[in-house]
Amino acid sequence: MTAFLVLKAIHLLCVVAWVGGMAFAYLVLRPSLVVLEPAQRMLVHTAVFGRFFRIVWHVMPLSIFTGLAMILIFQGGMRFVSPRVHAMMGLGLIMSAVYLYIYFGPYKRFRRTTDKASMLSSLDSIRKMIGVNLILGIVTIVIGVVS
Ligand code: HEM
Repeated sequence: MTAFLVLKAIHLLCVVAWVGGMAFAYLVLRPSLVVLEPAQRMLVHTAVFGRFFRIVWHVMPLSIFTGLAMILIFQGGMRFVSPRVHAMMGLGLIMSAVYLYIYFGPYKRFRRTTDKASMLSSLDSIRKMIGVNLILGIVTIVIGVVS
């Protein structure tokens, strides 16, 4: 039982870092960046994405791994878990796919280009998709805790 709780604690810490990080970026950091000049804003975006995405590269696989470990080791496999866990897993995998799209799509374009218009359009796509993932994350948390 203790091992189950350890897995669940790691699972939840990963989810908090991922969804909480997106909430902070979307609701606090981005609107606050208007106080900077556009060029400085780009530098901050570059530094922030670099750090945050490095965190997500760790917590995203770890949340999937700990979730699957709880199911396979302690709950007897997918056949025996409740619909809310199925829904959580489905949404978690969709969130991961959205993250991979952001990373290898608009974020890669943002890093490679020096053209200002293309940078701004990549930033806009990143912002929209992080918004999508934030909503999915909030829905997934609610589904996760509502039994
Ligand atoms: C492949 C992905 C995932 C799998 C396989 C998975 C699986 C699980 C399992 C087995 C539990 C324990 C359920 C129980 O106590 O019986 C759990 C708990 C939880 N998960 Fe996930 N999960 C995944 C992704 C996510 C994501 C992306 C979120 C949120 C964004 C999330 C939020 C939660 C929450 C809040 C709990 C605590 C539920 C509670 O104790 O009441 N999970 N997850």
